[in-house]
This record gives sequence, structure tokens and C-alpha cells, in this order.
Amino acid sequence: MSETAYQFSNDWHKFNQKVWDQVIPRLNPAHIIEIGSYEGQSTCDLIRSCSAKHPLRIHCIDTWEGGVEHVRDGMSAVEERFDSNVALASGSAAHPVTLVKHKKASALALAELVAAKGEPADLIYVDGSHQAPDVLADAVLAFQLLRVGGLMIFDDYLWSMEPRGMQDPLNMPKPAIDAFLNIYLRKMKVLLDVPLRQVFAIKIGN
Ligand SMILES: C[S@@+](CC[C@H](N)C(=O)[O-])C[C@H]1O[C@@H](n2cnc3c(N)ncnc32)[C@H](O)[C@@H]1O
Repeated sequence: MSETAYQFSNDWHKFNQKVWDQVIPRLNPAHIIEIGSYEGQSTCDLIRSCSAKHPLRIHCIDTWEGGVEHVRDGMSAVEERFDSNVALASGSAAHPVTLVKHKKASALALAELVAAKGEPADLIYVDGSHQAPDVLADAVLAFQLLRVGGLMIFDDYLWSMEPRGMQDPLNMPKPAIDAFLNIYLRKMKVLLDVPLRQVFAIKIGN
């Protein structure tokens, strides 16, 4: 099927894709957890790049209810587009893709994965709620699920809901990402050779 069969209403991931293509292949992830999938644009990109050499297992966590920054009315159509887009990407993947959809709040889904004591993930993408308390909870739980040597990517490091100068720090991912990385100073190493729009951090200890 052609590229045009994908149904995306935004280009949020377009800029990130160039950086991901430089960073992610170095890690060669086979087991991924994505927090915040929306229409599946980042999911499809992960499927494309990470199934190239081997089978891929990917957990997609989303309420499909939208965050505070979304218009929530259209979210059932967003979820339908996710289902169709990831089916298309999986169907054209070079190796088999196992996609596990967790339609629930990220804190609950991540806690369930921690309790299940499965194989740790090679890559975790944190792009769910952009509220600082939620981002902090996602990061702390995701850390438990990431292998040593694995990569955590935080989206929208500099995003704020309000205009510049009027920001509410609790409506921003940055204070949560900073707090997490400060407290996990000896366990996470930030990659510095990437644009600040996203934060890339490698787990270096348990
Ligand atoms: C910015 S979008 C994700 C975009 C996606 N990664 C992409 O590249 O297209 C954020 C998503 O997080 C979901 N979300 C917001 N708060 C959540 C929460 N507490 N738990 C799970 N999902 C949440 C929303 O429903 C939305 O689909």
C-alpha cells in the first residue's frame, strides 16, 4: 500500500524523525514502550525503523481521550486512525510486529507492566500527558521497565500550554523531566548532541 494511505492530521513527528533516524538505529531496539500514541505517527515510524533487522514488540499506551491540550470530541476518530495506521505499518514491516494496545491511563498501564515482570524494554518514548505531575509519574514508572543501556525519549521538553511569559510550570513537561533526571543523576545519562526539543537519556544503572 502507498504512503498516502496513512491518515495523519498533523506533522508533530516530522522534525523528530530526522533525529530519531540518527540516534535510534545505534540502539537497534526490539522491545519498545510508547506512552502517548494518538494517531500512531511516532508508532508507525518506530515500526518502520525498528522492524528492519528483526521482529519488534511494541506496547502502545494511550487513553485515546486526549490531553488537556487536545480537542477531545474527535478522539474516537483519532483512535480509529491509530488502528488503521499501525495495521498498515505492521503489514509493510520487514519483520513481524507484535503490537500490544493498552487503552488506559499511563500510570495504570505502566504499573501493570511493572507488576507483570516481563522483559525490560530497549526504548521507552514518553509523549502522553504533558502535565508535570503525570510526566514525572510516567518517567519514574518507565525507569522500572527500561533495561540498563536502554533509551528513554521525552517529547516536548520546551512545550508549554500557555504563551511565553505566562507559563504555568505544572502544565509543562520540563519541570518533571528536570526533576526526574536530577534525582536519577547516577542512573540516567543525558545525550547532549541532539536538539533540545526532545530529551534523550540512556539508563546507566539500576
Ligand atoms: C501528543 S499526543 C501523542 C502523539 C504521538 N506520540 C505522535 O507522535 O503522533 C499525546 C497522547 O497522550 C494521550 N494521553 C494524555 N494523557 C494521558 C494519560 N494520562 N495516560 C495515557 N495517555 C494519555 C492523549 O490521548 C494523546 O493521544
